[in-house]
Amino acid sequence: ELKDSTVIVVFGASGDLAKKKTFPALFGLYRDGFLPRDVRIVGYARTKMDEVEFHKRTTSYIKNPNNDEAIAAKIEEFKKISSYVSGGYEDDPSFENLEKVLRKVESETHKGRERHRLFYLALPPSVFLPVAANTKKHCYTTEGINRIIVEKPFGKDLDSCRELLGSLKQFWAEEETFRIDHYLGKEMVKNMLVLRFANVALGVAWDKNSVSNVQITFKEPFGTEGRGGYFDEFGIIRDILQNHLLQVLSILTMERPVSFSAEDIRDEKVKVLRAIPPIERSDTLLGQYVAGSGKPGYLDDDTVPHNSVCPTFAATTLHVRAAYRSVPMLTVPRALRLTALNEAKVEVRIQFKDVTQGIFKDISRNELVLRIQPSEAVYLKLNTKAPGLYTRALPTEMDLTYKRRFSEVKIPEAYEALILDALKGDHSNFVRDDELDVAWRIFTPILHWIDGRDGPRPKPVPYPYGSRGPKELDAFIGKYGYKRTDEGYQWPVTNLA
Ligand code: BG6
Repeated sequence: ELKDSTVIVVFGASGDLAKKKTFPALFGLYRDGFLPRDVRIVGYARTKMDEVEFHKRTTSYIKNPNNDEAIAAKIEEFKKISSYVSGGYEDDPSFENLEKVLRKVESETHKGRERHRLFYLALPPSVFLPVAANTKKHCYTTEGINRIIVEKPFGKDLDSCRELLGSLKQFWAEEETFRIDHYLGKEMVKNMLVLRFANVALGVAWDKNSVSNVQITFKEPFGTEGRGGYFDEFGIIRDILQNHLLQVLSILTMERPVSFSAEDIRDEKVKVLRAIPPIERSDTLLGQYVAGSGKPGYLDDDTVPHNSVCPTFAATTLHVRAAYRSVPMLTVPRALRLTALNEAKVEVRIQFKDVTQGIFKDISRNELVLRIQPSEAVYLKLNTKAPGLYTRALPTEMDLTYKRRFSEVKIPEAYEALILDALKGDHSNFVRDDELDVAWRIFTPILHWIDGRDGPRPKPVPYPYGSRGPKELDAFIGKYGYKRTDEGYQWPVTNLA
C-alpha cells in the first residue's frame, strides 16, 4: 500500500550516489507511474545552487538515448515535482528552514490530507548521525508516517557498527529504518528465494550431500580511478564482501522461511549467518593490482598512499557449520572482486559432487549458475549423450537467459525496487540490525588483521590490471573442492548477447 501525499527528501542531493542512483531510480518509478500520487521530491545538500543547476545534475544520469518525446516530457514533469534546498547538516537553523519548506510543499499539494515523509540519506558516514538526529528533531511529521533510508558504510567493524546503530536508534525506530544493501534489490538476487523454495527439483539437491562447493564471484573491470581516498580507507572486503556478497550467501544458504514475510525471511538469514564462524586468515587470499594492459596500478593512483597494502582483491572462504540443523549446504563460497579485471560480472556458481564412479570416467560436474549481472541468466551445466551413433557424454547446458525468455520485460534497477519497497513499508529486502551484527562478527577478525591491529599488515599478492586475478587463485579455489572438469566446454557466445 503506497501512501498518497508523500514527500521524499534526498539528503546529499548534490553528491555522486544521488546523481547516479537515487534520482535516476526516482525518475524510473515516476515515469512508470509507481510513485505515490501527488508525490513531491525535495533535494537537500550543502552546495549552493539554483534550481536550474539542481535539475541539470539530477537528470544528468537519466537515459533517453533515442530522444523519445514521451520520456522527455516525463523528465520535464519530474523537474516540476522536485525542488532544492541548501543548508548545513549539523545546525538547527538549517533544519528549521527545511521544515518550513516541507510544510509549504505539503500545504500546497497535500492540503487537508495525511502527510508522509521519506528521508533518503545519500550521505557520507561522517554526517549520518547529525542528519538522523536533526530530521527527527525538526522534520518529523506528526501527521503521517516517517521513514528513513540509510546506506553503508555501517561502521568499520563490529564495535563501530554497534555504536552507530545504537546512536541511530535513539532517534529512529527499527520499523522506520530501511538499511539499503542494493544487491537485495537486484532481480536475480530476489529470484533466489523463488528458485530455491518453489522448485522441488532444485530443493532436493540443495544440500551438503549433493553440493561440493559454491562460489560467489564479483568482478569489476576498472580500478579505483580517482576514488582511491575512500577506497583505501575501507578496502575491498568492507566495500563488497561483508555486505553485498554476504547477503547473497545468506539467501543461498538459509533454510526455508515459515513465510515470505520480512521478519520470517530475516530470521532465517540471521540463523544461517550465526552458523558461520569468523573467517580464518588461512582461508583468505588478498591481492592488489599492479600496472597491466596499458593501465596504471593501484599505487600509481594519486589518491592512494604510496605504500598502501590495501587489498583490491580478496578471495575468502566461509564455512557454514554442519552442526546446524539440516544445513542446507556445506558452503565453500569464494567471494571475490577483482578490481581492474577483465570483465564485469557477478555470479553464483554451485558446483555439485562427482557422479558415482563406475559407468563414467572423467565426466564433467554439474554446475548451477545464477548470473546476477550482466544479462541475468540461470543455467545448469549437465551431461547429455552426444548426439550420434556413439555413446559419449557431452557437457552442455539448460539455459534460462532472461533476455531471450523474457524479452519483453524491462528488468527494474535495484534502487527502483528498493525505494518502492520502502515507500510501501516492506522491509523484506532491507538489512535488519541483527543481520549487520552477525555479518561484522564474521569479518571483523580478518579486517583487524588487514588493518594491522594485531601485528604487521599482510602484504597482498600482485596481479596485473585486466588479468583474471592473482595466479595463486586457482590453487586457492582448488583447496576447497572446486574442480575444473569441463576443459573444452564453452558457454555459447550467442547466449551472452
Ligand atoms: C557499491 C560499491 O556498493 O557497489 C562500489 O561501493 C561498487 O565500489 C558497487 O562498484 C557495485 O554495484 P553494482 O550494482 O554496480 O554491481
